[in-house]
Amino acid sequence: MHIAFVASEGVPFSKTGGLADVVGALPRALAALGHQVSVYLPRYRQTKLSDPAQVVRSITIPFDDKYRFASVVTGGSQSGVRFYFVESPEFFDRDALYGTPAGDYPDNAERFALFSRAVLEASKVLGVPHVFHCHDWQSALVPVLLRTIYAEDPAFRDVGTVFTIHNMGYQGLFPPETLPLLMLPWDLFTMSKMEFFGQVNFLKGALVYSDFITTVSRKYSQEIQTAEYGFGLEGVLRGRSSTVTGILNGVDYDEWSPQTDKFAAAKYSPQDLSGKLKCKQDLLAAFGMVSADPRLPVIGIVSRFAAQKGFDLISQVMDRLAREEMIVVALGAGDKPYEEMFLRLNKQFPNKIAVKVAYDNAVAHKIEAGSDMFLMPSRYEPCGLNQIYSLKYGTVPVVRATGGLDDTIEPWDVRSGKGTGFKFTEYSGESLLLTIKQALHAYRDQTSWQALMRNGMNKDFSWNASAREYGKVYDRVRQIRGGAAVQEKLSTVTA
Ligand code: ADP
Ligand code: GLC
Repeated sequence: MHIAFVASEGVPFSKTGGLADVVGALPRALAALGHQVSVYLPRYRQTKLSDPAQVVRSITIPFDDKYRFASVVTGGSQSGVRFYFVESPEFFDRDALYGTPAGDYPDNAERFALFSRAVLEASKVLGVPHVFHCHDWQSALVPVLLRTIYAEDPAFRDVGTVFTIHNMGYQGLFPPETLPLLMLPWDLFTMSKMEFFGQVNFLKGALVYSDFITTVSRKYSQEIQTAEYGFGLEGVLRGRSSTVTGILNGVDYDEWSPQTDKFAAAKYSPQDLSGKLKCKQDLLAAFGMVSADPRLPVIGIVSRFAAQKGFDLISQVMDRLAREEMIVVALGAGDKPYEEMFLRLNKQFPNKIAVKVAYDNAVAHKIEAGSDMFLMPSRYEPCGLNQIYSLKYGTVPVVRATGGLDDTIEPWDVRSGKGTGFKFTEYSGESLLLTIKQALHAYRDQTSWQALMRNGMNKDFSWNASAREYGKVYDRVRQIRGGAAVQEKLSTVTA
């Protein structure tokens, strides 16, 4: 089957978070199963292409004030996957992907509408897929366009759409005038379509118009159908619950494994853990803590600094945590208050809490390899990849039991020797602190701790199984569309 991925970021070309890891790895896993896979991404300033070749010279995109023009270049094939990049220097040749520290780019609706339309037009030249697989609000207009203004285009007659929600917290909300600006019909501005509390909601459009909706863990697929996690769209999802499913993300062990990691100071494996100490010393040195005692447990954090990730809990307990025998190393960037919080804590407890405010892939790998524990107390977490990477590195996750964190981490039970980490449910500083203390206590018995490490290291979260699940979803979508085509034919015959 031919599947076209449409997404706003993908490794190795562009990345701000886990979406890019998924878009980098899942297509390859699908290609390995025999599917034909194309991936469409914007060509940002950050997108490095060694030998780009133009494959579509000019695509006309109507906006209400003027026509805009995009072109498409190919970055060639990697592991059987063909990558295409939509070029519009006016929209994508900028410092960042979505915005600056001052806020989102004000023309994000235009930028990603142009992208979505360009993908549809380009596919008519480069090959219309059986299924468009779209991700997050930036590609949400693809299913909307296909079922509205493109509905009569014979090129797209039987094409199916799958939409994956990576995060309900980002919806693409814009003022009503956005619809005429993008030459979209006003009748989309109703509660049953894209209207949302007086604004246009791109994500809602995708939830209404896609043939099938997936999200990135089973638990999150249930959570988002409740008011606590649905960000106001829980009703729309409940209305579609027979076409909503959760498929857990896999991870790419070619990139994230202590046996091959090129950023780690030493290699190690479940059979021989000795290299981890060298990784720990290297990590402490990277954070300027050369004189720290490497016997102390090191708790690592790698994260976007955003409210989703539970930093308010961390701020509640840090003073008390700093009294314990441990070291925290944190890498992250994002919301200013959290950056400032970590910098302040570092000043206050220079021997206990170290931070790098940055986006740095090499340091992210060093933290996975050199820490003893990994902290993710998220308020919500659709899947979460870092806790899965941590398992492979024998870096024991301490997590809140939500979304993918709950689905991937099993609580450690010293008596049975089963389990892979520590988790708590109540969203409170007290629960977080108690759980970290349990982990610190368990660390003191190094024999059972190593059993716990090995339990995690022996888990397999590679993409293969999840890619097969997506394969089933694509089959289902083709049945739905096939059925729709038959329905259409029948109604023309009877009319
Ligand atoms: P999310 O997508 O919500 O940010 P995930 O856990 O799914 O969370 O994925 C985050 C990805 O981004 C991981 O690959 C992680 O290593 C990476 N990452 C996050 N913050 C940083 C950072 N400051 N520097 C380097 N990599 C980061
Ligand atoms: C989102 C989520 C994260 C998930 C990632 C990839 O950014 O916040 O939990 O792992 O997408 O699906």
